[in-house]
Amino acid sequence: MKKLTITRPDDWHLHVRSGAILKTVIPYTARQFARAIIMPNLKPAVTTVAHALAYREEILQAVPETVCFNPLMTLYLTASTTIAEIKKAAASEHVHAFKLYPAGATTNSDSGVADIKSVYPLFAALEKYDMPLLIHGEVTDANCDIFDRERVFIDTILTDIVSAFPELRMVVEHVTTTEAVQFVQSAGSKIAATITPQHLMYNRNVILAGGIRPHYYCLPIIKREHHRLALIAAAISGNAKFFLGTDSAPHLSSLKETACGCAGCFSAHAALELYAEIFEQANALDKLEAFASFYGPDFYRLPRNSGAVTLEKITWKVPAVYGENGIAITPLKAGEKLSWKIQ
Ligand code: DOR
Ligand code: ZN
Repeated sequence: MKKLTITRPDDWHLHVRSGAILKTVIPYTARQFARAIIMPNLKPAVTTVAHALAYREEILQAVPETVCFNPLMTLYLTASTTIAEIKKAAASEHVHAFKLYPAGATTNSDSGVADIKSVYPLFAALEKYDMPLLIHGEVTDANCDIFDRERVFIDTILTDIVSAFPELRMVVEHVTTTEAVQFVQSAGSKIAATITPQHLMYNRNVILAGGIRPHYYCLPIIKREHHRLALIAAAISGNAKFFLGTDSAPHLSSLKETACGCAGCFSAHAALELYAEIFEQANALDKLEAFASFYGPDFYRLPRNSGAVTLEKITWKVPAVYGENGIAITPLKAGEKLSWKIQ
């Protein structure tokens, strides 16, 4: 196959930051995706509708005029979130979900929730107002091995949330394990999951074997090969519970190439191209369109996009770094070749 045209896709999990980094990264998302779910883990966190709307304006200002892009905003759920704010968010056409970060789980998660049971009244309100809850599914217990944190979260926290709030729509974000895939598959129709390119492409050797490679460090951390194979199987299965969410999470290269580097892979520069390569290698290019363009909007109860994008089979080399004027962000696959390119 030399060309592939699909309905314009959306990215259901994206970090774009603010200021100069936002200006650097947003054009890459906007040229391929019609919409993206924007993560609220700024400093300070986006906890109110007013803040989300102001942030949305900042994003729109940074989008090139030649493209049409709709940022779908989310609010950061904290112990101080009020039911009134949930009601307001549900009434806003621009706010589409709340994000739950267990406190300390990842980048800018210090305002996250320390005691998940204590926010059950907020989950009840989300359920009542039919606002999806997007979950960073990892426990933060220092005694829990970092490779087990997603599985333990499912066993000790998520299973209980799902049974306590049967009508609450939830997205288990960036699933990384066989156990998470099985959990989502066997849960009811309200439970879905996003899958990132890095978790589909790599196992944990990429971070550690033959040298330490900080640009592959993200959270949840990339796992063993058998988990990767389970994620591939889920992504190409045609099961509408699994859809595209890059979790593209740009950090300055200097903050990753250091003694205690930040978590996050920048993949927005070539997101759809990366997924195309993954699906092609799995002999499942015919399953890409539904994963990238149909199942996400169906879950969020938004219309599917009407436009199209065409990918061409062309080899191109990913730049070593993106950005200028003091901004340097190392992308996923820096300096490597990719085999698909958006026209
Ligand atoms: O690797 C990650 N980076 N995982 C997250 O959950 C957050 C993200 C970020 O914001 O950098
Ligand atoms: Zn994320």
